[in-house]
Formats: sequence, C-alpha cells, structure tokens
Amino acid sequence: STLGASAAERGGRYFGAAVAAGRLGDSTYVNILNREFTSVTAENEMKWDATEPSRNSFTYTGADRIVNHAIGRGMKIRGHTLLWHAQMPGWAQALSGSTLRTAMINHVTQVATHYRGKIHTWDVVNEAFADGGSGGRRDSILQRTGNDWIEAAFRAARGADPGAKLCYNDYNTDGINAKSTGIYTMVRDFKARGVPIDCVGFQSHLGTSISGDYQANLQRFADLGVDVQITELDVAQGSNQANIYASVTRACLAVSRCTGITVWGIRDSDSWRAGENPLLFDASGNKKAAYTATLDALNGG
Ligand code: G3I
Repeated sequence: STLGASAAERGGRYFGAAVAAGRLGDSTYVNILNREFTSVTAENEMKWDATEPSRNSFTYTGADRIVNHAIGRGMKIRGHTLLWHAQMPGWAQALSGSTLRTAMINHVTQVATHYRGKIHTWDVVNEAFADGGSGGRRDSILQRTGNDWIEAAFRAARGADPGAKLCYNDYNTDGINAKSTGIYTMVRDFKARGVPIDCVGFQSHLGTSISGDYQANLQRFADLGVDVQITELDVAQGSNQANIYASVTRACLAVSRCTGITVWGIRDSDSWRAGENPLLFDASGNKKAAYTATLDALNGG
C-alpha cells in the first residue's frame, strides 16, 4: 500500500508532503509525490514574500504550479502561510503600526480570496509564540501592531474563504511545555470569544527523541474543540528515526481529531535540514526504514 491510501483507511486522514515548485520537473520526485501523498503544502511559494513581492501586486506563479498539480490528481492542499514574521517582503518589513496592520489584513484577504474553495486548511498565522519558558508572544513587527493581530488575521481569513479550516501553526510544541501551553491558552480564549479558529498545527521538526507527552499534548488541544494536524514532520537521522516516525503516526491515529500528517519534503536531498537526512526517502528516492515504520504504524502496527 502507500502512505496516502493507508492514512485514508484510518478515518479518512490525509498524508501530505511539502512540495517545492522548482522540483515538479524531477520525475523521481513527482513519481513519489503522486504515488504516496494525498495532500501538499507549498514549501515557500505561498509565503508573503512570494505572493506579494511589492505592495498590492500579487504573483501566484510558483504556488499555482503546486495547486494545479494537486488539483489535477485529487490531492488536498494545505495553505502555508498567510502571516509569518519570516519571509516577509522588504516593503512590508519597512512598515509598522496601523500601516503594517492594514497591509497584513489586506494580504490575508487577497491571498485567501485568490485560493477560495481550493485550500483545505490555511496556516493563518505561523510561529507567533516565543521559545523558552515565558509562554508569551514572540516579539516581531507583526506583534508590535497590537496583541489582537492574530485574531484580526483569523477573522479576515474566515471572511475571505469561509470553507477553509483555519489553523495556528508552530514548532517546539511537541509536548506539554511553556510554549505549547501559551498557545493552548490563546486557543481556549479564541474558542470562548468566538474567534474563528478550527485547528492547531504541530510542525514537529524533531531531533533524536520524542517527548513522552506528545500524544497527550495533541489530545488537550483536541479537547478544546479544534482539530490538530502534524504539519511539517521531519526527524533527525539516528538510531531512533524510524521509531520516532512511528510514534508520531500512532499518536495522531490515537487522537480522533488529528486529521492528517504532512512531512516537510520528500527525499533527504530535498530537505531544509541539510545533512540530517530527516525524511522518508533517500536521495535516490528509495524507501527508508522510517518509511516502512510509518506505513506499518498507519496499518495498525
Ligand atoms: O528563492 C531564493 C532564490 O531566489 C535565491 O537564489 C536563493 C539563494 O539562497 O534563496 C532562495 O530562497 C530560499 C528559499 O528557501 C527558497 O528556496 C531562502 O534563501 C531560504 O531561506 C528558504 O528556506 C526556507 C525556510 O522555510 C525559510 O525560513 C525553507 O526552504 C523552508 O523549508 C522553510 O520552511 C519553514 C516553514 O515555512 C515554517 N516552519 C519551519 C520551516 C523550516 O525552517
């Protein structure tokens, strides 16, 4: 079987990969993508610097190549990401205050409107919480427009594409810790006040071990009434790699509101983590032990 087919048999879950438009001409890459995966995330092509390189001038060339590939093969599309402090275009980095706020909301509205009806889930806001023990927001020019910037973004996204699931997405949230608890508190507040949020993404860029409360953390978010998704999974190569992939997969399957898993690339050679060989296929496109462990976990092993 395949990752996508096995995930679908487990409650209709998807199994996705981050895709780079520039690799869609590589037949080894495309063959694996088409065979194994039922969802795609654009690795960079939907980010603010790519889609609005100058103010109010939108370009969707790379993103549309990925979207059209996915639609042509019946794959779902995760939108990544409407707002992130990184990969902002220079013109937006030069703004602040109410001018930046207006530009942010316009960006969310324009991009979500362009893709209305095509995106299964949007990462509306990415990486807005601080690392470390504070549990608070990350300082950024977005945050400095006012603490309500995240909810303003979610409301704009809902208005532009009412059918898309709207996610908050972050990393170092792979267990119960100060950062994940800060996000948990925000989501609980959003649900209490009717701010439109549907899901939380757990990037899951993992090292050589996994937190023992990984599943419990997913479950506590699900218990707030949101879906959870594993959105950018990759795991450092090491003796534990296959086991960690299997553990993450089993954790998602054990949480009924965990609706899908995305790995952050296809072959090790496609990964942003150069040298760590963190993916399911080697540079030649061969299945690794981590692939087999993931598939076995999807099949109930
Ligand atoms: O597009 C330019 C190209 O024109 C230029 O010639 C080249 C020279 O360096 O750079 C190209 O841009 C690179 C871009 O990837 C596209 O390849 C950037 O330098 C590079 O920094 C960028 O890295 C991406 C990174 O986000 C940026 O922060 C990675 O591919 C991408 O995998 C990574 O993805 C993020 C998620 O979006 C959010 N979570 C963490 C994750 C890993 O960092």
